[in-house]
Amino acid sequence: MRAEAPTGLSAFPREGKSLRCGSFKLRDLADRFGTPLYVYSMDFVRERFRQVESAFASADPLLAYSVKANGNLALLNRLAALGSGADIVSGGELFRAVKAGVTPGKILFAGVGKTDEELKAGLDARIYSFNVETIDELHRLDDFATELGARAPFGVRINPDIQAPTPHQYTRTGHAETKFGLPVPVAVGLYRWAKTRPHLRPRGIDVHIGSEIVDPVPYKKALRQVLEVVHLLKKEDIHLEYVDIGGGFGIGDGSGGMDMGALSDELLSVFQGSGLRMILEPGRFLVAEAGVLLTSVRAVKRSGDHVFVVTDAGMNDLLRPSHYRSHHPVEAAVVQKDRKVEVVDVVGPVCETGDFLALDRSMPLPRAGEVLAVGNVGAYGFSMASNYNARPRPAEVLVDGDEVLLVRERESFEDLIRGEVIP
Ligand code: LLP
Repeated sequence: MRAEAPTGLSAFPREGKSLRCGSFKLRDLADRFGTPLYVYSMDFVRERFRQVESAFASADPLLAYSVKANGNLALLNRLAALGSGADIVSGGELFRAVKAGVTPGKILFAGVGKTDEELKAGLDARIYSFNVETIDELHRLDDFATELGARAPFGVRINPDIQAPTPHQYTRTGHAETKFGLPVPVAVGLYRWAKTRPHLRPRGIDVHIGSEIVDPVPYKKALRQVLEVVHLLKKEDIHLEYVDIGGGFGIGDGSGGMDMGALSDELLSVFQGSGLRMILEPGRFLVAEAGVLLTSVRAVKRSGDHVFVVTDAGMNDLLRPSHYRSHHPVEAAVVQKDRKVEVVDVVGPVCETGDFLALDRSMPLPRAGEVLAVGNVGAYGFSMASNYNARPRPAEVLVDGDEVLLVRERESFEDLIRGEVIP
């Protein structure tokens, strides 16, 4: 049996019986907008953004928010207003970021398989830099920049061959056996070649070792390697402007995430004096704990000694528990009196045994019609949602100060068939 995580809903404190977001009761939001519903606290995101920014203040940091964590336009727009840039991985994310008002000069384009169209779109938009992950990509970038008469800014993503301590193998990206980045000798070769190409501008260097990391040490190891490359290139008269240390700062499932002060102490101790600017690409750290998924209990059923709490949110709305076995706190939006505490599986309505939000969870037994809040889902919640089982994706609500804003409508059945034809 697994114990309840200590807390995971700090942006959603309980006052009296009710979980709240700012001055709004979550239950009221569920009644007003329906369930399943994603609710985000912008105040929490702002606080996190400032926390990271101030920890790295002496390194002239650019925080390039990782759009894949949560690409909601309103959220991006408000992050941009705080001065955030964007780490993007597709033409779609470029489109989203620019639409939301992110300054193109603060956008970095990552990704192992960028298409010709994506490279051209990035050049057209005049983004800050391409974080290049293959030799072929840099050659194509050179071709397109030459055609346009432009100079393409780039950094090479280094594969530092570091085993990052992440809770799931799928979120480790820093060891040699992954598809990410290039080995140092290959990267150095690319910078040397680029020096001979008038339409390429070596601007920086990049590394991203994985996700959900709460230990600063592997970041320091990666940074050391990257700085060695920077110094080597300097001797060859190739002068870089940025070091992008990537993202991946964990929240520790609500039980104490990455200590930003400790991380900045470790990193700045080797970075100080380099004359470079540091880029960080936090996703989860800024938004995960700022989001809850509200879901209504549809039924409670027993099978043998198993108790199933069946909710109206499933793996299509929140994939993480099923895909990574990730732990998300689940709490009643309103505490009810005299409920027996039982060990339950909280499961969705999707036709898969792997469709669950929480397994073996000890909680006061809810009843049909009541609302549960699933915590730590502001990152990789909606952004990984799908229409599996022909289920419209949930609505999204942003609570910003005293305002509650519907920032994405619930999908309709018509949305489900948009673009389909019966020839
Ligand atoms: N930069 C790069 C190059 C990345 O690949 C990622 C995440 C980030 C930054 C942001 O990482 P974060 O700070 O959010 O951990 N779907 C998974 C996470 C996959 C992350 C992929 N890359 C999940 O639900 O945990």
